[in-house]
Amino acid sequence: MKKYVVIGDPIQHSMSPVMHNDLFQFYRMDAVYKAVHIKKGMLKEGLQQLREMNVAGFNVTVPHKTDIIPFLDSLDPLSEAIGAVNTVVKENGKWIGYNTDGTGYLRGLLSELTTLRDKKILMIGSGGAARGIYFTLAHHGVERIDIVNRSLDKALNLKESCPYSVNTTIVDKWTAEANCGEYDLIIQTTSIGMSPNVEESPLDISNISEKALVSDIIYNPLNTKILQDAKSKGARTQNGVGMFVFQGALAFEKWTGIFPDADRMKRNVLKQLGGN
Ligand code: ATR
Repeated sequence: MKKYVVIGDPIQHSMSPVMHNDLFQFYRMDAVYKAVHIKKGMLKEGLQQLREMNVAGFNVTVPHKTDIIPFLDSLDPLSEAIGAVNTVVKENGKWIGYNTDGTGYLRGLLSELTTLRDKKILMIGSGGAARGIYFTLAHHGVERIDIVNRSLDKALNLKESCPYSVNTTIVDKWTAEANCGEYDLIIQTTSIGMSPNVEESPLDISNISEKALVSDIIYNPLNTKILQDAKSKGARTQNGVGMFVFQGALAFEKWTGIFPDADRMKRNVLKQLGGN
């Protein structure tokens, strides 16, 4: 039986095991997926445990996405540029790192929008998740991606480290709030608004266009404060379930060669989250 795991800290609430085990059963594969708790600073010992278990592949989540890199045998170019890995595949005995977060986000987005090329985008945040999304969208080709972030230096570093060219202005919060009506798409990548801090929002979007889409990568809660604000202004919204499902689907494809039924995965995740 092939073994797959997700490593992180905390990890007990991860929905990945239920999502992947359902797929292994559905496709009649002799494989199992488990959550393995590895504390920050204990990666070396934890990875030794995975080698002893002879895992065929694994997912990596907070706080290990960057720290894992020195322990891998090689990285694909996108995960190398992003500087973060969320999926590891064992190929010919070697551990190869990939990043399916940005591509997973893009797949989810393309189920809402037919084209991105003409879109003016405002991205909130400049952390690890933002890097994956920014690089992937820049590579895909969009009209503009402006960035608003609490720390301007991190936003600048994100822009400057991107290997793909895209029009970007780093804007402060007040400018972003005043001009948010200019954007077709606002992407929220920070942890602000995540449970239990469900009353918080990173940006006042009162000036948003009703034609805009607001996309939050948070899925707990499904309807964050910024998404509620967007709905009250008549704008469209997307929660983080799509990104979560597609990053998992792309990891599953890397491990098995099968791109799984994403609608089935989504129904399964929503069942766990108590949404619909
Ligand atoms: P991840 O890797 O999950 O994206 P991260 O690297 O810790 O997480 O990044 C979190 C993002 O949320 C960053 O953009 C961070 O802003 P800074 O770059 O200024 O740190 C943003 N963020 C988190 N908490 C915040 C808060 N209370 N106010 C404003 N921004 C916050």
